[in-house]
Amino acid sequence: MADRKVYTDYFFDEPAFNTHDGGYVPLKEPDSPQEKLRIPALLKPDKETDTDMYYTVIAQTGETQLLPGAKTKTWGYNASILGQTIVFKDGKNIHITLKNELPELTTFHWHGLNVPGPITDGGCHAPVYPGESTQINFKCNQVAATLWLHAHPCPATAQHVWKGLATTVIVQDQTESQLPFPRNYGVNDIPLVLQDRNFHENNQLDYMADYDPDGIQGPTPMINGTINPYFDVTTQRLRLRILDGANRREWRLHFSDDLKFTQIASDGGVLPEPVDFTHLMLTCAERAEIIVDFSGYKPGDEVTLYSDDVPLVRFRIHQFAKDDTTLPDHLVNIPDPDVTPNTKIHQVVMAGMDEEVEINGKKFDMQRIDDKQQVGSVEYWDVSNTNDKTGGMIHPYHMHATQFRIVSRNGHEPYPNEHGLKDTVGVNPGETVRLKVWFDKLGVFMNHCHILEHEDGGMMAQFEVYDPDHPKTYKLMDMDTLMTAFAKERGVKKEDLNIPGMHM
Ligand code: C2O
Ligand code: CU
Ligand code: CU
Repeated sequence: MADRKVYTDYFFDEPAFNTHDGGYVPLKEPDSPQEKLRIPALLKPDKETDTDMYYTVIAQTGETQLLPGAKTKTWGYNASILGQTIVFKDGKNIHITLKNELPELTTFHWHGLNVPGPITDGGCHAPVYPGESTQINFKCNQVAATLWLHAHPCPATAQHVWKGLATTVIVQDQTESQLPFPRNYGVNDIPLVLQDRNFHENNQLDYMADYDPDGIQGPTPMINGTINPYFDVTTQRLRLRILDGANRREWRLHFSDDLKFTQIASDGGVLPEPVDFTHLMLTCAERAEIIVDFSGYKPGDEVTLYSDDVPLVRFRIHQFAKDDTTLPDHLVNIPDPDVTPNTKIHQVVMAGMDEEVEINGKKFDMQRIDDKQQVGSVEYWDVSNTNDKTGGMIHPYHMHATQFRIVSRNGHEPYPNEHGLKDTVGVNPGETVRLKVWFDKLGVFMNHCHILEHEDGGMMAQFEVYDPDHPKTYKLMDMDTLMTAFAKERGVKKEDLNIPGMHM
């Protein structure tokens, strides 16, 4: 264990980092007092039996004390901002009542969850109108992972997430529960949702004032809905389930003293082997679970997590018991099925920036199915970013309904932490990333850039997972129905709706 290689690199192409964007908004250290890091409560099941779990998830409005002075109007799931953390257990039947108490329609998308589409998956085809509720039922069948729930009402996804609609989802299974990982939620196992915001008069958010077609940004880091947070460390080892929950921002993470940390899981579950880092970059929607070992520190010390040179969280070290746990060199086996013979190689070409973004030369159309794959078949998807190497940006590419494997980047080995299951991958300008993709649920699903303004702006496509023996037709939502509903709910004329992506 002691002789694992320690990576000190961000791996992604430096000229494509968001710091080089024309509209880059640098993070600033907040000048408000330090606040205890918010740890979202675990959502209590309405009922749990040996085989079934029942939950109610409510999208609601609220007010959150983010800064001194006026509270900020925010949205959340069973909370005023972000949400309570939702736990699913592999093998259980899950029943969720989705309730919308917002003033407008939204959807509930289970990012990374292996469920049928398009309704259970919760993309734009599954609106829940204000005052209404609906039920979804599915069997949880996937390995332990850190996933997330977020709103996905195209093309207002970015607005809804900016207001707060995003929360952590934890899947637990038998294998992960045997591994020597910290798992005392809130004590040594905590979610860390990384976001940034800009605050206007009276501490309010103003999406349209800060809108940028390449992704809204704010100078203030907001971690789990906390500004300028600290966390009291009471154990030697701490597990962080980090999510890039920002609309656009990349996070280049490192600790004070270049403290080494160990990544144990990526988007879709535990890595085959632990990977040691001093620096780690996440693009939008990616997750990394890491274990930090504070054995070199003593009570009263402070260890700071930074992005670039701005502090995000201060870990205040308290007395802790000595912990000699070492991680095995091998953690889990990752499925690597052979590609089904005689299948095509899917091509996804992400092009453009600003309003010009598109996939395969087209803007998103809810009524158009762009690609197909047979359920159970294993196929290559070649995902390219045609942006110029100088002046281009990294597009985080995401597919619903699957956890894929990254085969190669421009024919070379993927990054050292990309050997596990993933649902989102940052694609550098001028790069083609080859994915090996398989599905086991039927439906119509989305694939897109996870910079939320690119997704809303049309850098999104749809595919159908089909069973040739049981063809299905789907009733798909259309932009006009959604825009008519938004206009009515917001009390404005359709042409006066301030939803940038609607003009695509
Ligand atoms: Cu995070 Cu289309 O989703
Ligand atoms: Cu998703
Ligand atoms: Cu993009």
